[in-house]
Amino acid sequence: MINLTINGKSIEVAEGTTVLNAARQNDIKIPTLCDHPTLTPYGGCRLCVVEVKGMRVPIAACTLPAANGMVIETETSSLKKSRNVILSLLFSERNHFCPFCQVSGGDCELQNAAYAEEMTHWPMQPQWTNFPVDTSHPYFILDNNRCIMCRRCIRACAEMSGNFTLSVEERGAATIVVADTNVPLGQSTCVSCGSCVQVCPTGALIDRQSAYLGHDKNLTVTRSVCRGCSLGCGIEIHTRDNHIVKITGDYDAPNAGTLCKTGRFLPVEQTRTRITTPLKRVDGKLVATTWEDALKLLAQNLTPLKGKIAAVASTRLPVESLYAFKSLFA
Ligand code: FES
Repeated sequence: MINLTINGKSIEVAEGTTVLNAARQNDIKIPTLCDHPTLTPYGGCRLCVVEVKGMRVPIAACTLPAANGMVIETETSSLKKSRNVILSLLFSERNHFCPFCQVSGGDCELQNAAYAEEMTHWPMQPQWTNFPVDTSHPYFILDNNRCIMCRRCIRACAEMSGNFTLSVEERGAATIVVADTNVPLGQSTCVSCGSCVQVCPTGALIDRQSAYLGHDKNLTVTRSVCRGCSLGCGIEIHTRDNHIVKITGDYDAPNAGTLCKTGRFLPVEQTRTRITTPLKRVDGKLVATTWEDALKLLAQNLTPLKGKIAAVASTRLPVESLYAFKSLFA
């Protein structure tokens, strides 16, 4: 175990823990942007800088391994000033005029970080280039104008889905996220898993299906199991007014947040018109009926077949449905 001190508090963490995770495990908040718990630390945004006694300059906590005897401060006035400058630079580098952005008002980690630092404006003159918006993909949009180059999407594409479609092109302020060799996303090797959209901290990757349908705070989250195949990935279904707004991967499930197109996007597309009553076939057409009528019909048709019924179930069904299926046919 490693013993260190953060903000005067003595803490003990397992060997190999980063300073950021050591702080998190002890409820000490260090602001972050490029860091994501599911992805390998990258140390790009520098928002998580901390002061370490004996070190000449502030160090990024997300990539700094905790060591025995470290004495760390996270809330000095000089660190607050650094964060303010880092955020000002990020805001001034691209078009971050928040009112136009669909994640503004609670879902943007950049905006939230600025509010947490009590920023009301950024003092630097904006100097951005206008980048084209890539709308070629059927499920999401890539807007490099909102990008803060945290590379979460690139790491998610590589580490979560193992696809390596996303990367960067150019240098410095001209750096942009591209697909393959800068081909339109819709014509690239993207497999539409949507991991990049799920981890994006700003409005740079926008889910077409859920855009402008409400902030996360307005949505009800229900943890469930994907019905797409027999793998049974953990999903979180975000609903509003009894409509599915989006589906995201459950980070706490064995799939660690990763989903495929079938789990993330197709159910939303297909369930916008939900089946809310039983259906019976009349003259070749499905018509709505009551449960009473449906069950009566089922009994009428099944009873005469005693002992001559074969029932087939799909492995796509969740455990609950398979249990109900077994109960019925047993
Ligand atoms: Fe540590 Fe970005 S969160 S450098």
